[in-house]
Amino acid sequence: MQRLSVVILAAGKGERMVSKKPKVMHEIMGKPMVSYVIRRAKELLPTKIVVVLGHGRELVEGYVKEFGVECAVQAEQKGTAHALLMAEELIQGDDVLVLYGDVPLIEGSTLDGLLSFYEKARAVVFMTTEVENPFGYGRVIVEGDRIERIVEEVDATPEEKEVRRINTGICLIPGELFGLLKKIKSDNRKGEYYLTDICRIAGQEGIEVRAYNHPRASEVLGINSRKELLDAHITMNDRILEAHMRSGVSFLGRNIYIDADVTINRDTTVYPNTYLMGKTRIGEDVTIGPNVLIRDSVIHDDVSIEGFVVMEGAEVETGARVGPFSRIRPSTVLRKGVEVGNFVEVKNSRLDENTKANHLTYIGDSEVGKDVNIGAGTITCNYDGSRKHTTIIEDQVFVGSNTELVAPVRIGRNAVVGAGSTITKDVPEGALAVTRAEQRHIEGYGRKKQCAE
Ligand code: UD1
Ligand code: CA
Repeated sequence: MQRLSVVILAAGKGERMVSKKPKVMHEIMGKPMVSYVIRRAKELLPTKIVVVLGHGRELVEGYVKEFGVECAVQAEQKGTAHALLMAEELIQGDDVLVLYGDVPLIEGSTLDGLLSFYEKARAVVFMTTEVENPFGYGRVIVEGDRIERIVEEVDATPEEKEVRRINTGICLIPGELFGLLKKIKSDNRKGEYYLTDICRIAGQEGIEVRAYNHPRASEVLGINSRKELLDAHITMNDRILEAHMRSGVSFLGRNIYIDADVTINRDTTVYPNTYLMGKTRIGEDVTIGPNVLIRDSVIHDDVSIEGFVVMEGAEVETGARVGPFSRIRPSTVLRKGVEVGNFVEVKNSRLDENTKANHLTYIGDSEVGKDVNIGAGTITCNYDGSRKHTTIIEDQVFVGSNTELVAPVRIGRNAVVGAGSTITKDVPEGALAVTRAEQRHIEGYGRKKQCAE
């Protein structure tokens, strides 16, 4: 095969999204839709990938550049042929595969099929499909697999409007025929340069244009509305769950959402109403849920994340247990065997091996050693109204219930903090620190109710 470049059209505004954001930046399972198209393009190992930008150019360009693709700019959206011509200089006579930035569900096997058809045909090839309601799409008038013409909705006659074979927009143009695009004129109802007009121009010059029909329309048709965005989201999630199940992950129930970049190792089980987001990585034999949200976190093997946990930007080491009802905030590290229980919030803190904070606690900006027991109702007072301070709790400390540790403060190794204390000074190693008032008894103070009666 000759050199192939991929051009991804992504200049359009996407009016029907009713959005401030360019359409291709709307997210599906945690990533802008254009990223899925770029991934497909990359799998084909083309010489170049060029994204044609227009609406919201800065935003899209900033994002797609991270994938190492090149960008061309279509300052004014004058139609699909015009958009493709903006990439001419970059593709340097290569054969061109045209993809759309708003057709993210396209599968690798579909493109493989299209490309092998193209290699045999070596003609301009459009991918078509059949739909119940063809309204809005270009109707493809064929004879066998030869395309006579493609007629846009606004230019179609009533008979042509009946045609249910439509143009997906995805097409291939041999390098030597790219010049035909320059002969396309904008003398139609929309005043646009239609890429589909290449069929008519080729016909005039005795060059064949072929149709490659794909049976699953939902995969090759673009996203134009918020409803289609939702449908794509669901389809993509189903594909992601299927891939995880094939590699040994169990999902025991519905409403499980897993973003595209999340990794999960085998024999992990996820329960219903759980959302694993962003760049989360999960090990083997982990159980998660129900009703859990984890974002951008690393969970090692044999961890149990119980119900109603919300976690972001954390690392949880082997054998730890979190939840139910815990909130784990960014820059938290829970080392091996740690237990964090109900109504415990941890932020920017490290809890070393086998430390436990099982109930009603806030640990912020803290370094907590090994085998520490944090009693119910413990609060690290890390904020003095203007600055954040660090609490250091050394190994084997026992913190009694209902205790405030006013940072900056250090609790020495093996020390005990008596329940109900407010600790403002460092506690020496092995000491007992108590700050509450001593208990007194005033005899006979209670109401002498029974006596009075
Ligand atoms: C186009 C096809 C139509 C096909 C339909 C499939 C033409 C003339 N028509 O319709 O036959 O059925 O796609 O969805 O090709 N774009 C640009 N610059 C532009 C115009 C469009 O980059 O000036 C991009 C859009 O961002 C989008 C794609 O091209 O990714 C399709 O644009 P859209 O306006 O949705 O398609 P139509 O022209 O209506
Ligand atoms: Ca469209």
